[in-house]
Amino acid sequence: MATERTLSIIKPDATARNLTGQINAKFEEAGLRIVAQKRIRLTKDQAGEFYAVHSERPFYDELCEFMASAPVVVQVLEGENAIAKNREVMGATNPADAAPGTIRAEFAQSVGENSVHGSDAPETAAQEIAYFFSGLELVG
Ligand code: CMP
Repeated sequence: MATERTLSIIKPDATARNLTGQINAKFEEAGLRIVAQKRIRLTKDQAGEFYAVHSERPFYDELCEFMASAPVVVQVLEGENAIAKNREVMGATNPADAAPGTIRAEFAQSVGENSVHGSDAPETAAQEIAYFFSGLELVG
């Protein structure tokens, strides 16, 4: 198995409810190491650039508004098969479908306000990490 890095975002619905620590505990309990982390406030334009792949979807405007509505915590998680492991810990996009014990089952409020984002493949992980972090900020 390969050691990977993936980009994680703790979303506005979760930072607003002071859930950063509880969500980080889920990552660490699963063996994922937080090797970079910062709390930032995205503009709607920055959120739109990050989620450009969804620009044709009907929920795109709502998604960008939401991501700019309060601070987010952007993070790099590292570990064996970190991309798939993180997606397992997050649970399904829609909390109604998320397995018990996952972050979205426990904390998400709706398919839009679903508490966390995680990269879905190695190529997107590399792009998404580079969107938020410079090499100097990745200390391992
Ligand atoms: P995320 O994993 O960050 O990737 C894209 C996001 O779009 C997703 O989580 C949800 O927050 C959001 N999303 C997906 N489907 C819908 C939907 N039907 N309505 C609103 N938001 C959605």
